[in-house]
Amino acid sequence: MHKLVDVPGLRSLIARWRAQGERIAFVPTMGNLHEGHLQLVRRARQAADRVVVSIFVNPMQFAPGEDFETYPRTLDIDSRLLSAEQTDALFAPDVSVIYPGGAEATTRVEVPGPGRGLEDDSRPGFFIGVATVVARLFNLVQPDYALFGEKDYQQLAVIRAMVVDLCWPIEIIGVPTMREADGLAMSSRNQYLTVEERQRAPLLYQTLTRVAEQIVAGSPHFGALEDEAMKVLADGGFEPDYVCIRHADSLLQVAEGESRCVVLAAARLGRARLIDNIIL
Ligand code: PAJ
Repeated sequence: MHKLVDVPGLRSLIARWRAQGERIAFVPTMGNLHEGHLQLVRRARQAADRVVVSIFVNPMQFAPGEDFETYPRTLDIDSRLLSAEQTDALFAPDVSVIYPGGAEATTRVEVPGPGRGLEDDSRPGFFIGVATVVARLFNLVQPDYALFGEKDYQQLAVIRAMVVDLCWPIEIIGVPTMREADGLAMSSRNQYLTVEERQRAPLLYQTLTRVAEQIVAGSPHFGALEDEAMKVLADGGFEPDYVCIRHADSLLQVAEGESRCVVLAAARLGRARLIDNIIL
């Protein structure tokens, strides 16, 4: 596995592969890899001749007071895991490589439509940070395919819209959410949970499952389902930001009775903020 930390090294490797006619699949991450990330890498292996993974904790997508400084950084372990998955290249740049003039001074990418509402209400500017760094990484790696988890459903929708709007010839592949045995979606932030909170955490997925079941059973009262789910989470010790039933493609509000839905939720549990969704 090639380990790269700067732009010239990455560009020359990519140019060599491209000259040989090889197709490239790219998995952007912030590291501290778990089975969910590795699932993306395995899917990338199936899609292309070469797999590039980036590890970059992107300061632009963290608001002041969020966990940028304390976000778990485990590059040595991550590197070993990626090697074992036959990753061809790991790109792990410093902040100064991605934002030479500083993150504040750089050109930004803003995606309206799916980038508005939900996470954007709780974390204003978050998707500008995500879209901007992914845009830079796409231009550096020049992939044919890029893989993102359905776990971050709105992020996936933002990236799909960005690629269409900016005319990139990149196929975006969404990968289903990997869960722990009790249903909790795997996340690097799960380690912020105390033992007691970790036992309560599966309630988020259980609540989404119950909402999804009621929609499938024909319940037309989406507003009531959302309100009830918020209450279940609050009673279970969470501080819910939202539980929303939206159109699976546009993420817009849906007419009651619509079947192509996604149920999305975000809730704080202790020090962790958990997000999850179920696609119908
Ligand atoms: P990160 O949280 O490290 O996630 C990297 C990728 O792994 C994302 O596409 C995310 O959706 C996916 N992922 C995380 N947990 C998953 C799970 N349980 N099952 C399936 N996929 C999962 O998301 C980011 O980093 C950043 O915002 C990034 C896109 C890298 C831009 O900085």
